[in-house]
Amino acid sequence: MNFQLEITMATLSNNPVTARAHTNIALIKYWGKKDESLIIPYTSSLSLTLDHFYTDTTVWFDESLSTDQIIIDGQIPSEKSRQRVHDFLEIVRGKAQIAIPASISSTNHVPTAAGLASSASAFAALAASASEAAGLHLDATELSKLARRGSGSACRSVFGHFVEWQRGTNDADSYAKPLPDSGLNDIRVVALTVERGQKAVSSRQGMHLSVTTSPYYPAWVKTCQADLLQLKSAIEKGDFTRFGKISELNAMRMHALTLSADPSFTYFNGQTLAIMNLVKQLRHQGTECYYTIDAGPNVKVLCQQSTVAKISATFAQVLGDQNVIIAKPGPGVQYL
Ligand code: DP6
Repeated sequence: MNFQLEITMATLSNNPVTARAHTNIALIKYWGKKDESLIIPYTSSLSLTLDHFYTDTTVWFDESLSTDQIIIDGQIPSEKSRQRVHDFLEIVRGKAQIAIPASISSTNHVPTAAGLASSASAFAALAASASEAAGLHLDATELSKLARRGSGSACRSVFGHFVEWQRGTNDADSYAKPLPDSGLNDIRVVALTVERGQKAVSSRQGMHLSVTTSPYYPAWVKTCQADLLQLKSAIEKGDFTRFGKISELNAMRMHALTLSADPSFTYFNGQTLAIMNLVKQLRHQGTECYYTIDAGPNVKVLCQQSTVAKISATFAQVLGDQNVIIAKPGPGVQYL
């Protein structure tokens, strides 16, 4: 191995590189991989990047190390997490044609309890900091493709506000793109925590089980495409009512895949159902809001600036202030 040559080729950064990426909430869900190794999804998805939740990650490649050194939230992560970060760094090293271990320090400003997937912000921040530290200087599209290899939803966190992940068919054409500015910039997401534990079925396991055993999976692929087109048109027209209805419906269609898998499973608990009913009740009383739910029991309520105070106060009464967080549209990846 000729390190000297490789360092020249990759023009490694002399300094540590720090990147920040915000998490995102999917409104049209990504739920199932056509290619599990490259993370190519069966369907395109659409998300909103959120301002309140983000990950900061610092990376440098250091020849004096014998192996990758990984610290997450001030601690040495589990072997499984370590392996996942290491595998991702191998992709970055492969692209940069280097074989140098890295030092990584990552801090999540995502309350894991809020059930907002931290893997999206984590792998977007890692992709940005590691690729730059390795001297790759990727444009946003290439960065999105790279982030996708760590966690599918991470490819959308490269960009701010509304983002579409175009499923593509291979590594080169599966990446996210920001949607044009819309009349829905006053959108608010009220993140409600109903349970603080780790989920029993990870999204990775859950989507695999859904793809391989739910008889409804082909129907999901078909309806998801139609839902996506409808949501894009609602965003373009600034039509919040249609936006909310389609988002809520698409989330329920995703969860129908878990219920119809073999063995059947669900991410909902009793409180999830109670909150879904409360959202509907608010709506019937004239306060327009909708819900969406990812691979966990916590609920995100979609509303607008004009109603967010009333809606968050209603849920604070039920769940307590500490379990209600208001988020706005957030930015794409930034270097600090
Ligand atoms: C329900 O992106 O966490 O949040 O690609 O296996 O890492 P992997 O899965 P991940 O799944 C996200 C699932 C979801 C829907 C979404 O974000 O689109």
